[in-house]
Amino acid sequence: MPVPIPQMATLELFPQLTRGQIEAARTSSWLDTFEDITFPSTIIDLEELGEAEEFLRWIEADSIFLPEGSEGRFHTQTLNSTQQPVTRQRPNSNASYSSSSSSSSSTSEAPIYNLPKLNAAIREVLEKYDGAVFPKLNWTAPKDAAFILPQTASGPLHCTSPSDVYLLLKSSDFISHDLDPERAYSGCEEHSMADSNQPKLELVLKRFEEVIPSREIRCFVRNNILIGITQRDNVFYDHLQSEETRIKISDTVRAFWEDEIRENYTGRDDYIFDLYLSPNLSSAKIIDFQPYRLSVDSLLFTYEELLSILETSLEPISSPGQDTKQDRLPIFKIIDCKSHPSVSRNAPTYQSNMMPLEMIELSQGRSMEEFKDAWDQAVAQGMTS
Ligand SMILES: Nc1ncnc2c1ncn2[C@@H]1O[C@H](COP(=O)(O)OP(=O)(O)OP(=O)(O)O)[C@@H](O)[C@H]1O
Ligand SMILES: [Mg+2]
Repeated sequence: MPVPIPQMATLELFPQLTRGQIEAARTSSWLDTFEDITFPSTIIDLEELGEAEEFLRWIEADSIFLPEGSEGRFHTQTLNSTQQPVTRQRPNSNASYSSSSSSSSSTSEAPIYNLPKLNAAIREVLEKYDGAVFPKLNWTAPKDAAFILPQTASGPLHCTSPSDVYLLLKSSDFISHDLDPERAYSGCEEHSMADSNQPKLELVLKRFEEVIPSREIRCFVRNNILIGITQRDNVFYDHLQSEETRIKISDTVRAFWEDEIRENYTGRDDYIFDLYLSPNLSSAKIIDFQPYRLSVDSLLFTYEELLSILETSLEPISSPGQDTKQDRLPIFKIIDCKSHPSVSRNAPTYQSNMMPLEMIELSQGRSMEEFKDAWDQAVAQGMTS
Protein backbone atom coordinates (compact mmCIF):
# COMPACT_ATOMS: atom_id res chain seq x y z
CA MET A 1 0.00 0.00 0.00
CA PRO A 2 1.47 3.39 -0.97
CA VAL A 3 2.50 5.58 1.96
CA PRO A 4 0.98 9.07 1.73
CA ILE A 5 3.67 11.74 1.27
CA PRO A 6 3.30 14.40 3.98
CA GLN A 7 2.39 17.81 2.56
CA MET A 8 5.22 20.30 2.94
CA ALA A 9 4.09 23.18 5.15
CA THR A 10 3.57 26.31 3.05
CA LEU A 11 6.44 28.68 3.42
CA GLU A 12 5.84 32.40 3.60
CA LEU A 13 8.00 34.98 1.90
CA PHE A 14 9.19 36.07 5.33
CA PRO A 15 9.31 33.98 8.49
CA GLN A 16 7.25 35.02 11.48
CA LEU A 17 9.89 36.47 13.77
CA THR A 18 9.88 36.69 17.52
CA ARG A 19 11.13 39.64 19.49
CA GLY A 20 13.92 37.33 20.70
CA GLN A 21 15.11 36.86 17.11
CA ILE A 22 15.30 40.60 16.63
CA GLU A 23 17.13 41.05 19.92
CA ALA A 24 19.59 38.32 18.84
CA ALA A 25 20.74 40.52 15.95
CA ARG A 26 21.54 43.43 18.28
CA THR A 27 25.32 43.79 18.45
CA SER A 28 25.41 43.42 22.23
CA SER A 29 23.59 40.05 21.99
CA TRP A 30 26.17 38.35 19.78
CA LEU A 31 29.39 40.24 20.45
CA ASP A 32 30.67 38.07 23.32
CA THR A 33 30.00 34.83 21.45
CA PHE A 34 31.78 35.92 18.30
CA GLU A 35 34.33 38.29 19.80
CA ASP A 36 37.31 36.56 18.20
CA ILE A 37 35.84 36.57 14.72
CA THR A 38 34.46 40.08 14.42
CA PHE A 39 35.92 43.60 14.51
CA PRO A 40 36.82 44.74 18.03
CA SER A 41 33.77 46.56 19.39
CA THR A 42 32.63 48.17 22.62
CA ILE A 43 29.04 48.57 23.75
CA ILE A 44 28.08 51.64 25.74
CA ASP A 45 24.82 51.05 27.60
CA LEU A 46 23.23 54.47 27.96
CA GLU A 47 20.92 53.41 30.76
CA GLU A 48 23.79 52.02 32.78
CA LEU A 49 25.58 55.28 32.21
CA GLY A 50 22.54 57.13 33.52
CA GLU A 51 22.29 59.30 30.39
CA ALA A 52 19.66 57.50 28.28
CA GLU A 53 17.01 60.11 29.02
CA GLU A 54 19.26 63.06 28.20
CA PHE A 55 20.48 61.31 25.05
CA LEU A 56 16.89 60.84 23.88
CA ARG A 57 16.04 64.46 24.73
CA TRP A 58 19.01 65.52 22.61
CA ILE A 59 18.49 63.20 19.65
CA GLU A 60 14.77 63.86 19.42
CA ALA A 61 15.16 67.64 19.68
CA ASP A 62 14.41 69.80 16.70
CA SER A 63 17.88 71.28 16.58
CA ILE A 64 21.31 70.59 15.23
CA PHE A 65 23.58 71.52 18.08
CA LEU A 66 25.76 69.07 19.91
CA PRO A 67 26.19 68.10 23.54
CA GLU A 68 28.52 70.20 25.66
CA GLY A 69 32.20 69.39 25.63
CA SER A 70 31.98 66.82 22.85
CA GLU A 71 34.52 68.35 20.49
CA GLY A 72 37.98 66.90 20.15
CA ARG A 73 39.46 63.54 20.89
CA PHE A 74 40.68 64.71 24.29
CA HIS A 75 38.63 66.55 26.81
CA THR A 76 39.87 70.12 26.73
CA GLN A 77 36.71 72.16 26.85
CA THR A 78 35.06 73.49 29.92
CA LEU A 79 31.50 74.63 29.99
CA ASN A 80 31.33 78.03 28.39
CA SER A 81 28.13 79.75 29.25
CA THR A 82 28.72 82.57 26.79
CA GLN A 83 28.59 80.22 23.80
CA GLN A 84 25.02 79.99 22.73
CA PRO A 85 23.79 77.18 20.54
CA VAL A 86 21.85 77.76 17.37
CA THR A 87 18.13 77.43 17.45
CA ARG A 88 15.63 77.52 14.67
CA GLN A 89 12.00 77.06 14.15
CA ARG A 90 10.04 74.82 11.86
CA PRO A 91 9.37 76.00 8.32
CA ASN A 92 6.19 77.99 7.98
CA SER A 93 7.01 79.82 11.15
CA ASN A 94 8.07 83.36 10.30
CA ALA A 95 11.72 83.04 11.27
CA SER A 96 13.23 79.83 10.04
CA TYR A 97 16.67 80.34 11.48
CA SER A 98 18.38 82.35 14.11
CA SER A 99 21.67 82.27 15.91
CA SER A 100 23.05 83.80 19.05
CA SER A 101 24.58 86.64 17.08
CA SER A 102 21.43 87.59 15.25
CA SER A 103 18.61 87.02 17.68
CA SER A 104 18.17 87.55 21.32
CA SER A 105 14.70 86.19 21.96
CA SER A 106 15.22 82.65 20.71
CA THR A 107 18.67 82.07 22.19
CA SER A 108 17.38 82.51 25.69
CA GLU A 109 15.27 79.39 25.09
CA ALA A 110 18.14 77.43 23.60
CA PRO A 111 18.51 74.18 25.48
CA ILE A 112 21.90 72.85 26.48
CA TYR A 113 22.59 69.14 26.45
CA ASN A 114 24.97 67.51 28.85
CA LEU A 115 26.25 64.01 28.26
CA PRO A 116 29.56 64.12 30.16
CA LYS A 117 29.69 60.40 30.91
CA LEU A 118 28.95 59.51 27.32
CA ASN A 119 31.62 61.95 26.11
CA ALA A 120 34.11 60.33 28.48
CA ALA A 121 33.09 56.79 27.49
CA ILE A 122 33.48 57.58 23.76
CA ARG A 123 36.92 59.12 24.40
CA GLU A 124 37.97 56.06 26.36
CA VAL A 125 37.04 53.80 23.45
CA LEU A 126 38.80 56.12 20.97
CA GLU A 127 41.91 55.75 23.10
CA LYS A 128 41.58 51.97 23.08
CA TYR A 129 41.07 51.80 19.30
CA ASP A 130 43.95 54.06 18.25
CA GLY A 131 41.85 57.13 17.76
CA ALA A 132 39.12 56.11 15.28
CA VAL A 133 35.77 54.36 15.64
CA PHE A 134 32.80 53.34 13.47
CA PRO A 135 29.54 54.08 15.34
CA LYS A 136 26.18 52.30 15.41
CA LEU A 137 23.14 52.31 17.63
CA ASN A 138 21.60 48.99 18.70
CA TRP A 139 21.42 47.52 15.18
CA THR A 140 22.04 50.29 12.72
CA ALA A 141 24.90 52.50 11.53
CA PRO A 142 24.23 56.12 10.42
CA LYS A 143 25.47 55.37 6.89
CA ASP A 144 23.02 57.80 5.32
CA ALA A 145 24.75 60.67 7.15
CA ALA A 146 28.29 59.82 6.03
CA PHE A 147 28.47 62.95 3.89
CA ILE A 148 28.29 65.18 6.95
CA LEU A 149 31.86 64.38 8.03
CA PRO A 150 34.87 65.35 5.94
CA GLN A 151 35.81 62.47 3.65
CA THR A 152 38.92 60.65 4.82
CA ALA A 153 41.06 58.21 2.89
CA SER A 154 40.10 55.56 5.46
CA GLY A 155 36.43 55.46 4.47
CA PRO A 156 33.08 56.80 5.63
CA LEU A 157 31.89 57.12 9.24
CA HIS A 158 35.44 57.63 10.45
CA CYS A 159 34.99 59.25 13.88
CA THR A 160 37.81 60.70 15.91
CA SER A 161 35.84 62.61 18.56
CA PRO A 162 32.52 62.38 20.41
CA SER A 163 31.23 65.28 18.30
CA ASP A 164 31.85 63.26 15.10
CA VAL A 165 29.74 60.46 16.54
CA TYR A 166 26.99 62.86 17.60
CA LEU A 167 26.96 64.67 14.27
CA LEU A 168 26.43 61.38 12.43
CA LEU A 169 23.71 60.15 14.76
CA LYS A 170 21.91 63.47 14.68
CA SER A 171 21.97 63.67 10.87
CA SER A 172 20.87 60.10 10.22
CA ASP A 173 17.38 58.92 9.36
CA PHE A 174 18.50 55.31 9.47
CA ILE A 175 19.21 55.24 13.19
CA SER A 176 15.69 56.45 14.02
CA HIS A 177 14.73 52.86 13.17
CA ASP A 178 16.45 51.77 16.38
CA LEU A 179 14.56 54.26 18.53
CA ASP A 180 11.08 53.41 17.32
CA PRO A 181 9.63 50.14 18.68
CA GLU A 182 7.23 49.79 15.72
CA ARG A 183 10.10 49.71 13.26
CA ALA A 184 12.71 48.08 15.46
CA TYR A 185 10.43 45.10 16.05
CA SER A 186 8.73 44.98 12.65
CA GLY A 187 8.14 41.43 11.40
CA CYS A 188 7.41 40.29 14.97
CA GLU A 189 4.53 38.11 16.07
CA GLU A 190 1.58 40.12 17.34
CA HIS A 191 1.86 38.93 20.91
CA SER A 192 5.50 39.83 21.17
CA MET A 193 4.78 43.28 19.73
CA ALA A 194 2.41 43.85 22.64
CA ASP A 195 5.21 44.03 25.16
CA SER A 196 7.43 46.18 22.99
CA ASN A 197 8.36 49.39 24.64
CA GLN A 198 11.28 51.69 23.86
CA PRO A 199 14.19 49.48 22.76
CA LYS A 200 17.13 49.52 25.15
CA LEU A 201 19.62 52.15 23.97
CA GLU A 202 23.14 51.10 23.22
CA LEU A 203 25.88 52.92 21.38
CA VAL A 204 28.19 50.49 19.61
CA LEU A 205 31.69 51.69 18.79
CA LYS A 206 33.66 49.43 16.49
CA ARG A 207 37.35 49.92 15.92
CA PHE A 208 37.59 51.65 12.56
CA GLU A 209 38.85 49.28 9.86
CA GLU A 210 39.77 49.99 6.29
CA VAL A 211 37.14 47.77 4.75
CA ILE A 212 37.64 46.76 1.10
CA PRO A 213 34.08 46.53 -0.29
CA SER A 214 34.90 43.78 -2.80
CA ARG A 215 35.45 41.38 0.10
CA GLU A 216 32.08 41.95 1.75
CA ILE A 217 29.47 39.20 1.37
CA ARG A 218 25.80 39.15 2.53
CA CYS A 219 24.45 35.70 3.48
CA PHE A 220 20.84 34.49 3.88
CA VAL A 221 19.80 31.70 6.23
CA ARG A 222 16.27 30.29 6.28
CA ASN A 223 15.01 27.15 8.01
CA ASN A 224 18.59 26.83 9.26
CA ILE A 225 19.84 26.41 5.68
CA LEU A 226 22.39 28.77 4.13
CA ILE A 227 20.43 29.40 0.95
CA GLY A 228 22.12 32.34 -0.75
CA ILE A 229 25.11 34.64 -0.68
CA THR A 230 25.70 37.82 -2.67
CA GLN A 231 28.43 40.37 -3.14
CA ARG A 232 27.66 43.35 -0.96
CA ASP A 233 28.85 46.22 -3.14
CA ASN A 234 27.07 47.18 -6.36
CA VAL A 235 30.18 47.14 -8.50
CA PHE A 236 31.45 44.85 -11.24
CA TYR A 237 34.56 43.06 -9.93
CA ASP A 238 36.88 41.31 -12.33
CA HIS A 239 38.19 38.88 -9.77
CA LEU A 240 34.69 37.56 -9.00
CA GLN A 241 34.17 36.50 -12.60
CA SER A 242 36.40 33.47 -12.25
CA GLU A 243 34.50 30.31 -11.34
CA GLU A 244 37.41 29.14 -9.24
CA THR A 245 37.21 32.26 -7.07
CA ARG A 246 33.46 31.94 -6.68
CA ILE A 247 33.77 28.30 -5.61
CA LYS A 248 36.46 29.27 -3.13
CA ILE A 249 34.31 32.03 -1.63
CA SER A 250 31.24 29.74 -1.43
CA ASP A 251 33.28 27.04 0.30
CA THR A 252 34.77 29.52 2.76
CA VAL A 253 31.42 31.05 3.60
CA ARG A 254 29.70 27.70 3.97
CA ALA A 255 32.44 26.27 6.20
CA PHE A 256 32.51 29.45 8.28
CA TRP A 257 28.77 29.32 8.77
CA GLU A 258 28.79 25.62 9.67
CA ASP A 259 31.76 25.82 12.03
CA GLU A 260 31.25 29.16 13.69
CA ILE A 261 27.71 30.45 13.32
CA ARG A 262 25.12 27.68 12.88
CA GLU A 263 25.32 26.29 16.40
CA ASN A 264 26.20 29.50 18.18
CA TYR A 265 23.92 32.23 16.88
CA THR A 266 20.88 32.65 19.17
CA GLY A 267 18.49 34.05 16.54
CA ARG A 268 17.19 30.56 15.68
CA ASP A 269 16.70 29.46 12.06
CA ASP A 270 16.11 32.61 10.03
CA TYR A 271 18.61 35.46 9.77
CA ILE A 272 20.94 37.38 7.49
CA PHE A 273 24.59 38.04 8.22
CA ASP A 274 27.42 39.97 6.61
CA LEU A 275 30.97 38.68 6.34
CA TYR A 276 34.28 40.27 5.52
CA LEU A 277 36.58 37.86 3.70
CA SER A 278 40.32 37.70 4.37
CA PRO A 279 42.63 38.83 1.52
CA ASN A 280 43.24 35.21 0.45
CA LEU A 281 39.48 34.50 0.67
CA SER A 282 39.97 31.48 2.90
CA SER A 283 38.63 32.89 6.18
CA ALA A 284 36.25 35.60 7.27
CA LYS A 285 35.11 37.95 10.00
CA ILE A 286 31.55 38.75 10.94
CA ILE A 287 30.44 42.30 10.19
CA ASP A 288 27.00 41.87 11.69
CA PHE A 289 23.66 40.03 11.82
CA GLN A 290 20.18 41.11 10.81
CA PRO A 291 16.77 39.48 11.31
CA TYR A 292 15.34 37.90 8.14
CA ARG A 293 12.90 40.65 7.16
CA LEU A 294 11.97 43.05 4.40
CA SER A 295 13.80 46.04 5.85
CA VAL A 296 17.12 44.31 5.11
CA ASP A 297 18.36 44.93 1.58
CA SER A 298 18.41 41.61 -0.27
CA LEU A 299 20.91 43.13 -2.75
CA LEU A 300 21.28 40.96 -5.87
CA PHE A 301 18.48 38.59 -4.81
CA THR A 302 14.81 39.26 -4.48
CA TYR A 303 13.10 37.74 -1.47
CA GLU A 304 10.92 35.79 -3.92
CA GLU A 305 14.03 34.19 -5.41
CA LEU A 306 15.30 33.31 -1.96
CA LEU A 307 11.99 31.66 -1.12
CA SER A 308 12.09 29.67 -4.31
CA ILE A 309 15.66 28.49 -3.57
CA LEU A 310 14.51 27.37 -0.13
CA GLU A 311 11.48 25.52 -1.53
CA THR A 312 13.58 23.73 -4.11
CA SER A 313 16.12 22.74 -1.49
CA LEU A 314 13.40 21.13 0.62
CA GLU A 315 12.02 18.97 -2.19
CA PRO A 316 12.69 15.27 -1.69
CA ILE A 317 15.52 13.78 -3.79
CA SER A 318 14.40 11.48 -6.60
CA SER A 319 16.84 8.62 -6.03
CA PRO A 320 18.78 7.40 -3.00
CA GLY A 321 22.51 8.19 -3.02
CA GLN A 322 21.92 11.39 -4.99
CA ASP A 323 23.28 14.67 -3.61
CA THR A 324 20.57 16.45 -1.68
CA LYS A 325 19.54 19.76 -3.15
CA GLN A 326 20.98 21.41 -0.05
CA ASP A 327 24.45 20.11 -0.88
CA ARG A 328 24.45 22.50 -3.83
CA LEU A 329 23.78 25.53 -1.69
CA PRO A 330 24.38 28.39 -1.20
CA ILE A 331 23.56 30.04 -4.50
CA PHE A 332 26.16 32.78 -5.02
CA LYS A 333 25.11 35.92 -6.91
CA ILE A 334 27.56 38.40 -8.34
CA ILE A 335 27.40 41.27 -10.79
CA ASP A 336 28.48 39.44 -13.91
CA CYS A 337 28.63 42.23 -16.46
CA LYS A 338 29.35 45.93 -16.45
CA SER A 339 25.86 46.72 -17.73
CA HIS A 340 24.16 44.79 -14.93
CA PRO A 341 21.13 46.80 -13.74
CA SER A 342 22.42 46.78 -10.13
CA VAL A 343 25.70 48.47 -10.97
CA SER A 344 25.79 51.87 -9.33
CA ARG A 345 26.73 54.59 -11.77
CA ASN A 346 28.52 57.33 -9.94
CA ALA A 347 25.42 57.88 -7.87
CA PRO A 348 26.32 58.53 -4.26
CA THR A 349 25.12 55.78 -1.96
CA TYR A 350 21.94 56.73 -0.07
CA GLN A 351 21.58 59.80 -2.25
CA SER A 352 17.91 59.94 -1.36
CA ASN A 353 18.91 60.46 2.25
CA MET A 354 21.43 63.16 1.58
CA MET A 355 19.27 66.03 2.79
CA PRO A 356 18.69 65.87 6.51
CA LEU A 357 15.70 67.74 7.76
CA GLU A 358 17.91 70.47 9.17
CA MET A 359 19.34 71.25 5.76
CA ILE A 360 15.97 71.34 4.12
CA GLU A 361 14.61 73.63 6.77
CA LEU A 362 17.63 75.88 6.72
CA SER A 363 17.31 76.23 2.99
CA GLN A 364 13.84 77.75 3.11
CA GLY A 365 13.77 80.90 1.04
CA ARG A 366 17.57 81.19 0.72
CA SER A 367 19.89 81.44 -2.22
CA MET A 368 22.51 78.71 -2.41
CA GLU A 369 25.15 81.06 -1.05
CA GLU A 370 23.02 82.25 1.85
CA PHE A 371 22.11 78.67 2.60
CA LYS A 372 25.75 77.57 2.67
CA ASP A 373 26.61 80.37 5.10
CA ALA A 374 23.64 79.51 7.27
CA TRP A 375 24.53 75.83 7.30
CA ASP A 376 28.24 76.44 8.05
CA GLN A 377 27.28 78.78 10.85
CA ALA A 378 24.75 76.32 12.24
CA VAL A 379 27.26 73.47 12.24
CA ALA A 380 30.00 75.62 13.74
CA GLN A 381 27.69 76.79 16.49
CA GLY A 382 26.47 73.30 17.12
CA MET A 383 29.98 71.92 17.35
CA THR A 384 31.08 74.43 19.95
CA SER A 385 27.96 74.73 22.03
N1 LIG B 1 34.53 48.69 11.93
C1 LIG B 1 34.30 49.21 10.73
N2 LIG B 1 35.17 50.10 10.20
C2 LIG B 1 34.94 50.66 9.00
N3 LIG B 1 33.90 50.37 8.21
C3 LIG B 1 33.01 49.46 8.68
C4 LIG B 1 33.17 48.86 9.96
N4 LIG B 1 32.12 48.02 10.15
C5 LIG B 1 31.36 48.10 9.05
N5 LIG B 1 31.88 48.96 8.16
C6 LIG B 1 31.33 49.30 6.83
O1 LIG B 1 30.03 49.83 7.01
C7 LIG B 1 29.05 49.01 6.38
C8 LIG B 1 27.81 48.91 7.25
O2 LIG B 1 28.16 48.37 8.51
P1 LIG B 1 27.13 47.56 9.39
O3 LIG B 1 26.62 46.38 8.66
O4 LIG B 1 27.77 47.32 10.71
O5 LIG B 1 25.96 48.65 9.55
P2 LIG B 1 24.41 48.43 9.22
O6 LIG B 1 23.69 49.61 9.74
O7 LIG B 1 23.99 47.11 9.72
O8 LIG B 1 24.42 48.49 7.66
P3 LIG B 1 23.69 47.51 6.63
O9 LIG B 1 22.24 47.66 6.86
O10 LIG B 1 24.17 48.03 5.31
O11 LIG B 1 24.23 46.14 6.94
C9 LIG B 1 29.73 47.67 6.16
O12 LIG B 1 29.17 47.04 5.04
C10 LIG B 1 31.17 48.07 5.97
O13 LIG B 1 31.41 48.47 4.64
MG1 LIG C 1 24.64 45.36 8.74
